[in-house]
Amino acid sequence: MTTASTTDRVALVRAIAAQHLSDRGALMPVLHDVMAELGHIAREDVEAIADVLNLSVAEVHGVVSFYHDFRTEPPAAHTVALCRGEACQSVGSQALYDATVARAESLGDGVEVAQVFCLGNCALGPSGTIDGRLHGRLSAQRLDSLTKEWH
Ligand code: FES
Repeated sequence: MTTASTTDRVALVRAIAAQHLSDRGALMPVLHDVMAELGHIAREDVEAIADVLNLSVAEVHGVVSFYHDFRTEPPAAHTVALCRGEACQSVGSQALYDATVARAESLGDGVEVAQVFCLGNCALGPSGTIDGRLHGRLSAQRLDSLTKEWH
């Protein structure tokens, strides 16, 4: 992920969009590339993408806001993503998610609690990821232990 000034950022986003100009349905690949390169899609990115792809700002904004995977704010320093799929729900993931959201502030600054729907780890639920690393049999106590350096 790149950190860039606004001017550099817009230039980079315009270059990414330009790489996809000849693609059919270029918008989604551009948005994915901007996410991969810059970590989120800022307002100025939407305007630059719309301009390069000859779309309206409303069209680009509509797609960005429709898909939860497209962030419009920089990501938090740490992310806890808890599975809310059926297998994990049957072993208490809903209560774990609710409790984790409620105590997110105690996990430390810059911690985001997200939800996912099946991580392919159903037999070891409740499952989740902590900064992208998969964990099974999660509980509030295990989460505290696994994130203790964040406190
Ligand atoms: S339902 Fe949670 S890992 Fe599959």
